[in-house]
Amino acid sequence: MEKKRFYITTPIYYPSGDPHIGHAYCTTLCDVFARYKRMRHFEVYFLTGTDEHGLKIEKNSAAKGLSPQEYVDGIVSTFKKLWTSLEISNDDFIRTTEERHIKVVQDVFSKMYQNNDIYLGKYEGWYCVPCESFWTDTQVGEEHLCPDCHRPVTSATEESYFFNTNKYLKELLKWYDKENVIYPINRKNEMINTFIKPGLEDLCISRTSFKWGVPIRENEKHVAYVWLDALCNYISALGYGSNDDSLYKKFWESEESEIIHVIGADITRFHTIYWPEFLTSIGARLPDRVFVHGLLMMKDGKMSKSKGNVVSPYPLIDKYGVDTVRYYLVREVVFGQDGQFTPEQFAERSNMDLANNFGNLVSRTVSMIQKYFDGIIPEFTPGVNEFDNELEILTKNTVSSFIEKMDDLHITEAYIDVMNLLGRANKYIEEMAPWALAKDPTKENNLKSVMSHLANIIFVGTKLLEPVLVIKSKEVYKMLGLTENEADFDNILNIHLLDNHKVEKGNALFPRLDVAKESEYIKSLMGGKN
Ligand code: MSP
Repeated sequence: MEKKRFYITTPIYYPSGDPHIGHAYCTTLCDVFARYKRMRHFEVYFLTGTDEHGLKIEKNSAAKGLSPQEYVDGIVSTFKKLWTSLEISNDDFIRTTEERHIKVVQDVFSKMYQNNDIYLGKYEGWYCVPCESFWTDTQVGEEHLCPDCHRPVTSATEESYFFNTNKYLKELLKWYDKENVIYPINRKNEMINTFIKPGLEDLCISRTSFKWGVPIRENEKHVAYVWLDALCNYISALGYGSNDDSLYKKFWESEESEIIHVIGADITRFHTIYWPEFLTSIGARLPDRVFVHGLLMMKDGKMSKSKGNVVSPYPLIDKYGVDTVRYYLVREVVFGQDGQFTPEQFAERSNMDLANNFGNLVSRTVSMIQKYFDGIIPEFTPGVNEFDNELEILTKNTVSSFIEKMDDLHITEAYIDVMNLLGRANKYIEEMAPWALAKDPTKENNLKSVMSHLANIIFVGTKLLEPVLVIKSKEVYKMLGLTENEADFDNILNIHLLDNHKVEKGNALFPRLDVAKESEYIKSLMGGKN
């Protein structure tokens, strides 16, 4: 069934340090997807937020002499500020310390408890504090290291509630059978081979050794395990079980809505084993897609404060503009694969795609239309010459392949196609040499056709780029003389849209950067490393 609505979520981030470019990566790509769907007139609900409970936060706040709430309030405001600077269009921001969320976690726990999916037991094993995860003997190996972060784990024994993970295994595997439910597929196979085939261990879902968590109604000594707490955000934000659950009905319960969780590879197990099982336990429907993206790494590995290689997005936005940063994140690392941030590539990518390809095409075309036709875009006549034909076909194909790729969240690939179209249009200028056509009055039809084709491709390219270039796209519509209504997605293949519109010269869209100079500057922001 074709879905009418989309519910798209980012992971909720730990406010245990200021946000870096890795957090910006995931949120920006989700934002591009949300804006793309809205642009196509689908109803979208886009959620992000913060995951504020747990031992790590309790410890960090104590070290700073703050209460956990004071501590998280400070960091959460930096996350919110970053999303505003990055033009993130989230519909809501959920915090796990909010009342509306806490109540849902308690309700979910109670429901599971009433269903006999939870039992009280004793936890004996290994615990990784930074990952807030329990591990078995085999998982930590002889060296007693966390299999996820490779830091030492500590042995732990305590009374805990356990979730019976094998009870809903059949339902889980049935969900796995759906096409593309977990993307990329190797993540699904990894879950089956690493966790399901060896036999799932029951999951400890409460703790007694710290207080900074959601108290369990059934037993006052216990707080909910952070992952149970955190995962519930996806439904608490929609008002699950509350008096106003209209969003929940519309975006979760309804089969007309497509539920898409976008996550980093590090948290796949929680989203593709436990979360679907929790949902089955409470009788809720399961997500349609869990899209697992890769990590944005630095040359010397993961970003970390101690390595001094953390990139804050703020100075980049200040200096290069929000559209450049958004475009870099979308284009540089193929969504779904791991990638690397380097200052040189940041500057080069901006030059290659934004200044030389897109910006150049727009400025050349606008000046030529001004010069040859007093700024009036000539009427579009299809197929005046062989190059026109090729361009018309490429334009149509780019729009349809873009839609197909975006719908599958192959966002980077979709934008590679757009850049190819713009590159082809730049080449067409060289092939047609309008400056020569302008000298020969018998070639006027050809010259008109070149200008109208170029203007048309600029509109198509800009429209497809709009979910990324949220500011500059508007400038281009203005330069093409288009009103907001005219620049609607439904007009994307209307070849006569621009006929007789008056172009307007604007500022250069993207300045050409001096790569050596700018990469030095970016390195200085990172403490000189990388
Ligand atoms: N709080 C949990 C998620 C709970 S969701 C119910 C958590 N938080 S986190 O802040 O550590 O990381 C969340 C997500 O941030 C990762 O899954 C990933 O999407 C994103 N990233 C964090 N660092 C990143 C990079 N270096 N590169 C790309 N994404 C990164 O886990």
